[in-house]
Amino acid sequence: MVDLLENLDQTSRRQLHNFAHQKRVARYGRGVYLRGLIEFSNICKQNCMYCGIRSGNKTVSRYRLSPEEIMDCCREGYELGYRTFVLQSGEDDWYTTDKLAGLIADIKRHYPDTAVTLSIGERDDETYTRLFEAGADRYLLRHETASGSLYKALHPTMTFENRRDRLRALKAIGYQVGAGFMVGLPGQTHEDLAKDLLYVKELNPDMIGIGPFLPHQATPLKDEPAGTLEDTLDMIALARLFVPSALIPATTAMGTVHPYGRELALQAGANVVMPNLSPLSARPKYTLYDNKICTGDESAQCRFCLEQRIEGAGFHVDMGRGDSLNRLSRS
Ligand code: SAM
Ligand code: FES
Repeated sequence: MVDLLENLDQTSRRQLHNFAHQKRVARYGRGVYLRGLIEFSNICKQNCMYCGIRSGNKTVSRYRLSPEEIMDCCREGYELGYRTFVLQSGEDDWYTTDKLAGLIADIKRHYPDTAVTLSIGERDDETYTRLFEAGADRYLLRHETASGSLYKALHPTMTFENRRDRLRALKAIGYQVGAGFMVGLPGQTHEDLAKDLLYVKELNPDMIGIGPFLPHQATPLKDEPAGTLEDTLDMIALARLFVPSALIPATTAMGTVHPYGRELALQAGANVVMPNLSPLSARPKYTLYDNKICTGDESAQCRFCLEQRIEGAGFHVDMGRGDSLNRLSRS
């Protein structure tokens, strides 16, 4: 694997992306699932070195949407056709287990034909279980990097072992689980990226989120170079080949690193896009890295802009719940 990563040239890269594309079409066809992303709080107790909303960043203007405001986003999203809502935030303890369970149950009561995905960081087993029982279907928790030493250097408030333990717990409870990693992290080697692929192969998650590391001006990594489009596309393609039945998003970070980054990701094995449903007032405050795209666009604009982009890239939008093939074969 390391050898392959070291020796990819333009021709073998194109071939690799093409293999991944074929694998994706064989498993999932040409449909692209759309998920409505609601970034409901940028308040975070953790202090990850790369992240723009880390607790150590005193310059960011903090916000938290109320459960009612989140329900408003879901209503708008449902009307726009979304059947998956992704609730993402920093690690914000104001949102207790009770409040989150109440919110999830409310969403499921109003919109029973939708899937709810959580992306709210590390919580204990009891919380994960109660949120699952309240109706949450899926959970995104990127492992960030499979290198223990790199993980340690980047996460002063969290441990490598616990991150992996949380992923195992989520899987055991019954969630459809999303792991994932950043490409081009400062100090990351080809060995590290090979470990990321082996880790996802072993974990066999339902979703794999992969994006380039992008610097944020108010973090300790502000002067580090960004991960590249090409390296990230290679990792998306390899993830598709290593875990063929995974759902793989064409991430916002891909669209930030290159104007057609998301389209290129779709052509290299990705099959999910997550347009933003957050209120316009919140968008610019959920800045994980510099120059994040789509911070000034209405939810409806994002929905239709992406539909055009998806069709322009040779795919079509699928507004279904879009469960992973892994899950469908388990049930
Ligand atoms: N707090 C939750 C968690 O830790 O899973 C969810 C929110 S967190 C901001 C979502 C993801 O953003 C992280 O898993 C990380 O991979 C990504 N991210 C954060 N800062 C980034 C950066 N500077 N460049 C690229 N991706 C970044
Ligand atoms: Fe948001 Fe294009 S995806 S405007």
